[in-house]
Order: sequence, then C-alpha cells, then structure tokens
Amino acid sequence: MLLEISLRPLNKSDVNSIMEIMGGLIGLGLPQWTIDQVVGELNSGSGLGAFLPSDELAAFVLYKRAFDHVDITFLASRNDLQNRGIMTQVLRNLFSHETQLPFWLEVHEGNLSARKFYEKLALREVGRRPRYYRDNGSAILYSTSI
Ligand SMILES: CC(C)(COP(=O)(O)OP(=O)(O)OC[C@H]1O[C@@H](n2cnc3c(N)ncnc32)[C@H](O)[C@@H]1OP(=O)(O)O)[C@@H](O)C(=O)NCCC(=O)NCCS
Repeated sequence: MLLEISLRPLNKSDVNSIMEIMGGLIGLGLPQWTIDQVVGELNSGSGLGAFLPSDELAAFVLYKRAFDHVDITFLASRNDLQNRGIMTQVLRNLFSHETQLPFWLEVHEGNLSARKFYEKLALREVGRRPRYYRDNGSAILYSTSI
C-alpha cells in the first residue's frame, strides 16, 4: 500500500534524521558519512525529504547543481519503509521541478535493488568506473538524459 507522505526541502534540523536513516542501511558501496559531511552537503547543495504524517523522515535525496547537470550524491529510504513507492515519489517530484538539466548518479554495480529502481524510473546507464569501490566493484553512472 502506498504510504501518505509529504515532501519538503531539507535543512540542518534534519541532519540527525538523515544520519539515522543512513545508519540503518544495508547495501553495497554505500558511503559511511559523518555528520559533518551531511551538514557540508546541505550547505553546498540541496536536499528533498519525504515525511510521514508523524513528521518522521522516511526518505531523502541529496543533490548538487553542477555546470551542465545535477549530481545526486546520496539517496535512501528508511530501511523498514523501502519498496513502498516512497523514493519513486521523491525523484519524480525532483525531476519535474528541475527539468533544465539532466541528473547524474553513481551506484555500485552490485547494488541490484538500487539499479533496478533507477532503470524502472527510466534512468540510463551512461558510463562505468572500473574498480571504483574498495571491494574492487565498479561504479555505474546513470543519467536521466537519453
Ligand atoms: C534504492 C532505494 C533508494 C529505493 O527506494 P524505495 O523507496 O525502496 O523505492 P520505491 O519503493 O519507490 O521503488 C520500488 C522499486 O525499487 C526497486 N527495489 C526497491 N527495493 C528493492 C529490493 N529490496 N529488491 C529489488 N528491487 C527493489 C524495485 O524496482 C521496486 O519496484 P517494483 O516493486 O515494481 O519491483 C532504496 O532501496 C534504498 O534506500 N536502498 C539503500 C540505499 C541505496 O542503495 N541508495 C542508493 C545508493 S546509489
């Protein structure tokens, strides 16, 4: 069943909720960010969060505008709320408001659930960085542009 969520830009008061979601994640190639890194990302970029009716953060995406594209630097749904359609709503909303530039993101080749998710949203594989991760896994670059 689709959960009722509301979307709003993230700010520094959301950092602890972001850290909690990050701490509960299990997945290949996921960075272990410190609180300072998350604060830095919000200072230099932007974030969009999905909130439950209780105002708890359910999912978030962090992104940064570059000259000719927008980099998605991290995105995650709370571990116990995955596969409920939340991130689909978050990204569709983000893409619909930022239509001028393509979005880029990188994912570990072995993160199959994330890759399946991106392909379902019609992102295209546009490049690879061989042995990019510590375990020698390659990074796959996805883009919203064709
Ligand atoms: C990838 C991720 C952000 C998707 O968020 P989500 O809220 O679960 O996504 P949605 O519910 O909107 O979309 C569901 C789709 O994602 C894919 N998916 C999500 N969880 C999956 C799983 N455990 N196994 C396989 N596919 C999965 C499927 O394509 C699914 O569609 P389907 O049910 O029709 O098959 C989430 O799984 C996540 O937070 N993963 C851990 C963090 C991560 O890997 N981030 C990406 C780093 S680049």
